Amino acid sequence: MEKSPGKTIIAVFISGRGSNLKSLIKHSKKKNSLFKIDLVISNNINVKGLQIAKKFKIKNYYVKYSNKRIFESRVLKLLNKNKIDLICLAGFMKILSRKFIKKYSKPIINIHPSLLPKYKGLNTHSRAIKNKDKYSGATVHIVNEKLDSGKIIIQEKVKILKSDEEKTLKKKVQKIEHRIYPKAVIKLFTNY
Ligand code: GRF
Repeated sequence: MEKSPGKTIIAVFISGRGSNLKSLIKHSKKKNSLFKIDLVISNNINVKGLQIAKKFKIKNYYVKYSNKRIFESRVLKLLNKNKIDLICLAGFMKILSRKFIKKYSKPIINIHPSLLPKYKGLNTHSRAIKNKDKYSGATVHIVNEKLDSGKIIIQEKVKILKSDEEKTLKKKVQKIEHRIYPKAVIKLFTNY
């Protein structure tokens, strides 16, 4: 994927905890990092993710989600004003409209807690356990107009043990998430 020279300027969309946001920020602070987290947008107020952004002095906005159209037009203004190269969805619990995805000229990527194409949508861990899957994992993919269906950038798996329950599996998968999301960002603009 082509981008102008210099660091990739990223906007991260969140709805809650922001542990993936934190991992992206930490990687962006490394020496010679290829990307910079410049903007954090949350559709929820008073969430931990916004506190993380504040702590690291990153521009952050709570944008009220009264309806999709108004939300997206406000967000678009923020993105254009800040010259964003890439949107990273990280636990963003709203679905962007087809129009937004089609119209927005820069890439949008997402992290999903399953081995896509398995278990699109919610409750991925309990579904994997219920189906007695041997493996679960996490996937970073391009966002297209179909939910959790765009081209896969990186995927990593982890064994599901007999003793695993939703909580323990979630923990293991999140560990993978924090590792692969920064990798995927770099991969997107280098050899993808
Ligand atoms: C992650 O499990 C991610 O895969 C999913 O939402 C969760 C967000 O977690 N899309 P966090 O807010 O980054 O801690």
